[in-house]
Amino acid sequence: MSRRKKILALAATGIFALSLASCSADAGTSGGGGDDAAAGAECNVGISMPTRSLERWINDGEQLKTLLEDADCTVDLQYADNKTDQQISQIQNQVAGGAKILVVAAIDGEVLAPVLAEAKKQDATVIAYDRLINGTEDVDYYATFDNYKVGQLQGEFLQTELDLANATGPISIEPFAGSPDDNNAKFFFSGAWDVLLPYVESGVLVVPSGQSPASNDDWASIGIQGWASDKAQSEMDNRLSSFYTGDEKVDVVLSPNDSLAIGIIASLKSAGYAPGADYPLITGQDADKANVKAILDGEQSMTVWKDTRTLGEQVFTMIEEIVAGDEVTVNDTETYDNGVKVVPSFLLDPEVVVKDDVQSKLIDSGFIKASDVGL
Ligand code: GAL
Repeated sequence: MSRRKKILALAATGIFALSLASCSADAGTSGGGGDDAAAGAECNVGISMPTRSLERWINDGEQLKTLLEDADCTVDLQYADNKTDQQISQIQNQVAGGAKILVVAAIDGEVLAPVLAEAKKQDATVIAYDRLINGTEDVDYYATFDNYKVGQLQGEFLQTELDLANATGPISIEPFAGSPDDNNAKFFFSGAWDVLLPYVESGVLVVPSGQSPASNDDWASIGIQGWASDKAQSEMDNRLSSFYTGDEKVDVVLSPNDSLAIGIIASLKSAGYAPGADYPLITGQDADKANVKAILDGEQSMTVWKDTRTLGEQVFTMIEEIVAGDEVTVNDTETYDNGVKVVPSFLLDPEVVVKDDVQSKLIDSGFIKASDVGL
């Protein structure tokens, strides 16, 4: 039976009404396998995305909205311009508007506990989307990509490309980290730095700017607020003008995602770098169109692709299960401790994309169109 038919069948047999009735009886319990599981929930979904200024979130929001509306769910999709108070009031409005399931990609994972407590009073089930929500009992599930593996893939890519295990160095690297308020950023950094730090300690890799965290815990010291391209560009400008005078050339830039990489590439260009022998290796994440183009043009070396369509599909499956009162599918019940509890999670696999993969992985799969990247 198609997914749409399954949800419609549930509606037809009035389970929605039934579940509504039973939900009010069970106020305050968290969903999935518990009381709510038996009771099910109304398919009225509030989706809260961090911003429209980064390509992926537009795709994520629109795609999940389409999946749900095709299944005749009620959907309210909101974007919060990377402003936490705006996200909080949008979620409050969604709860007041009757949302029974909240899908939240947090701007700042540390500030949502109060509004989720309100949501729980309305018996809503909460799914953290891509980014974990911390410091609260009131998040029921988490769906994301394996964030540590994203960084690991970036670190291992550099390790292989530079043959670090056999290199004597010194090879100059400039590391960057993501937004200090983004729970994912520490996982991205830790995954990469666990591969690269030993080479920094051995002297094979050197960090002329000194922006070299001694441990993963110091990741935020090189974090770029809001994942802003312009902030990454000016930070790179500073490092190049202060520490790469004369003939020194930067050999590698560890960029945790594509929006930072695009700023770093602009800074390198204005400093006279051009693809070719002296051009640095640059990492990325998200397969944003501008960065895929940069990879084709030799201005970026790789990106870690997270097929956000699969994340949307997985969250749709979770919602289906919550609506039906079924056990919610998760595949990790250990990794993501939000400081109050270990949140049952579903982790998806990221993968590396280099120039030769663009056609097969991104275009043939329909993730982007050839025309999006000038092909
Ligand atoms: C992270 C997300 C990345 C990237 C970044 C900036 O949380 O996992 O894919 O998009 O935010 O939005």
